[in-house]
Amino acid sequence: MKDVIIKSFAAGALAAAFAILASQATAAGDPAKGRKVFNKCRACHTVKAGKHRTGPSLHKVVGRKAGTAQGFKRYKGLKAADWTWTEAELDAYLTDPKKYLRAKNRKRGTMVLKLKKASDRENVIAYIKSIE
Ligand code: HEC
Repeated sequence: MKDVIIKSFAAGALAAAFAILASQATAAGDPAKGRKVFNKCRACHTVKAGKHRTGPSLHKVVGRKAGTAQGFKRYKGLKAADWTWTEAELDAYLTDPKKYLRAKNRKRGTMVLKLKKASDRENVIAYIKSIE
């Protein structure tokens, strides 16, 4: 009897451990690391609402319709975009923005920086998402 209890407890603990591991593996990246990755973006972007540089403000860009940062007038490849930035779309865009836009809407995007590492993309998206 005692044996059964110990076994089922162990199985439960193991399942819980796996659940935690799985959630970490699929969860979005680390905002603190992403803040550092964002240093590559700062020359052209801020995460402050309405504060644009060469590129549009990325404040609350996750869930926003592409190409619609209020008051930003220099969209090229993202002009009249008809999709919304989900994490998956952002991940694809950041991998290779020009190639993404060529395939997506056959426009010439003006953002050239590529984030080749998946972890960098995950982390930077997590950072952008973490800004209220
Ligand atoms: C040299 C300038 C430059 C750098 C560096 C840069 N971007 Fe951009 N980004 C732009 C421009 C310009 C656009 C608009 C592109 C267009 O319309 O074709 C843009 C658009 C975007 C958009 C879409 C915004 C919207 O309103 O739809 C996202 C998201 C984005 N950039 C994320 C990033 C991230 C994350 C980084 C850093 C890893 C980064 N960018 C680095 C210039 C830059």
